[in-house]
Amino acid sequence: MLPSKFLSWLIAVSMILLTLSSLSLHQFSNNSENSFIARSVFNFILVNNSSIYLKANGEYDQMKSPPSSPEMPRKEDTNIQEVPFQVSGHAMNMDETGQHSGAVCDQSRALLRVYMYDLPSEFHFGLLGWKGSANQTWPSVSIPNGFPPYPGGLNLQHSAEYWLTIDLLVSNTANIVRPCSVIRVQNSSEADVIFVPFFSSLSYNRHPKLQGHEKVSVNRMLQDKLVQFLKGRDEWKRLGGRDHLIVAHHPNSMLFARYKLGSAMFVLADFGRYPRKIANIEKDVIAPYKHMVRTVLIANSASFSERPTLIYFRGAIYRKDGGAIRQVLYHLLKDEKDVHFAFGSVQANGIKQAGKGMSSSKFCLNIAGDTPSSNRLFDAIASHCVPVIISDEIELPFEDVLDYSEFCVFVRASDAVKKGYLLNLLRGIEQENWTKMWERLKKISRHFEYQYPSQPGDAVDMIWQTVSRKKSATQLCVHRKNRYIRSQSS
Ligand SMILES: *[C@@H]1O[C@H](CO)[C@@H](O)[C@H](O)[C@H]1NC(C)=O
Ligand SMILES: *[C@@H]1O[C@H](CO)[C@@H](O)[C@H](O)[C@H]1NC(C)=O
Ligand SMILES: *[C@@H]1O[C@H](CO)[C@@H](O)[C@H](O)[C@H]1NC(C)=O
Ligand SMILES: *[C@@H]1O[C@H](CO)[C@@H](O)[C@H](O)[C@H]1NC(C)=O
Ligand SMILES: *[C@@H]1O[C@H](CO)[C@@H](O)[C@H](O)[C@H]1NC(C)=O
Ligand SMILES: *[C@@H]1O[C@H](CO)[C@@H](O)[C@H](O)[C@H]1NC(C)=O
Repeated sequence: MLPSKFLSWLIAVSMILLTLSSLSLHQFSNNSENSFIARSVFNFILVNNSSIYLKANGEYDQMKSPPSSPEMPRKEDTNIQEVPFQVSGHAMNMDETGQHSGAVCDQSRALLRVYMYDLPSEFHFGLLGWKGSANQTWPSVSIPNGFPPYPGGLNLQHSAEYWLTIDLLVSNTANIVRPCSVIRVQNSSEADVIFVPFFSSLSYNRHPKLQGHEKVSVNRMLQDKLVQFLKGRDEWKRLGGRDHLIVAHHPNSMLFARYKLGSAMFVLADFGRYPRKIANIEKDVIAPYKHMVRTVLIANSASFSERPTLIYFRGAIYRKDGGAIRQVLYHLLKDEKDVHFAFGSVQANGIKQAGKGMSSSKFCLNIAGDTPSSNRLFDAIASHCVPVIISDEIELPFEDVLDYSEFCVFVRASDAVKKGYLLNLLRGIEQENWTKMWERLKKISRHFEYQYPSQPGDAVDMIWQTVSRKKSATQLCVHRKNRYIRSQSS
């Protein structure tokens, strides 16, 4: 006979064993389920009260409003730094996607290792009026708000150059919580990509014309200098510039140098003013404009019935090039009472108005203008107003991972100009179908936010991820070049 004490001990032990085995079954019986559990737990991030989930499909869900997208690095943003990962009470240093808390990102785990030229400051922060001390190329990253702000107004649309550069500058700094998709390396032979820190859009915006007694504009002088610099570098010669990343977001930026540097990867708004040979989707990266209107918080986003305007359009009606369609549409739609056409380009005071208009409209038109793209699309996304894209030549950011048909309506220009076509189409979209697109918009709008520090899945992070997906094309080129070199030296 067994003592009853031993019996109850036996029962307790077997209960524990049973629970453990069923748990492990649950965890490991199904691979995909298992990975989902692990990911959702490890990717739980607490950034000053705003929690972000990385779902199994690689999307980020936000539980609360994200840190607001500042126009410039602001004081509050430095607060984000010290909050570590919270995983069941333990602070985690690093998770499987390379997020980090206080530690510097691990080079070997970054998607992309980037070497950045130490170009003189006249190419970047000098254009913002920044002057370092002797021999100082970059503003100090250790001082909070050490980066001079990028000028506001319409300049900001093309500020991708700025956000990418400062993200690289801080990528080796402890205590700045940002995604570890990209890390700056000091040795160019260890880099996947060579970044050219030239604020080309700002250079165009600031110095487009000859001033005073100049023989060439500052904008042209900088581009000429850049070409000369790059063509003399071993890094450039290695692959003829194919692994170089140059930001030229303003359609008129890099006008003088784009042909000479056309083998490089460009970060562009669209391909409207480039020949296919110089810019194409195989090698280049389409980046969003920084939107002008304020981001509508998810909690405040108006639903179908709360948006009285059916169709909203804002912009110049008379445009050269592809813009003739705007006039046709204006005459087709102007007498409809739930259609709002706002004229003229947006000046600073018009932005608030535009934001109001878009966030109370169901559909926002994006009609081709001078160029196939404009920041209107990104204003619509930030307002959760379903974009209606009437621009046959448009290129869309991150389209290899985002299916825009889930949250945009595409209309061919040839259809849009038919009488009644657009109105019938949009009036025919039922509440249920609109709501589906709106729900999707609320999820994906964070992919279009530029901010510092960068956050997982925001515009900066998405651009780096896109660059890393282009890496294999560069690799292919390297490997092909090696074919005979290796064989002959061995
Ligand atoms: C594993 O999970 C997938 C997706 O969740 C499911 O389709 C599949 O049936 C599961 N397999 C088993 C053996 O449970
Ligand atoms: C987080 O939010 C809660 C309420 O929303 C507040 O009480 C708490 O102080 C906040 N914590 C931090 C660290 O900001
Ligand atoms: C959270 O952010 C707010 C401002 O957005 C700031 O006042 C507060 O100190 C931050 N809290 C922590 C713990 O960083
Ligand atoms: C700047 O660089 C030069 C040459 O590299 C060096 O001699 C000089 O001491 C440096 N000045 C400062 C302030 O670091
Ligand atoms: C850079 O890396 C290469 C290859 O890893 C190495 O041969 C070279 O010595 C390194 N250069 C410096 C300055 O560390
Ligand atoms: C709305 O959605 C339903 C089901 O998802 C689909 O069958 C229908 O064709 C859609 N209607 C319109 C006008 O898109």
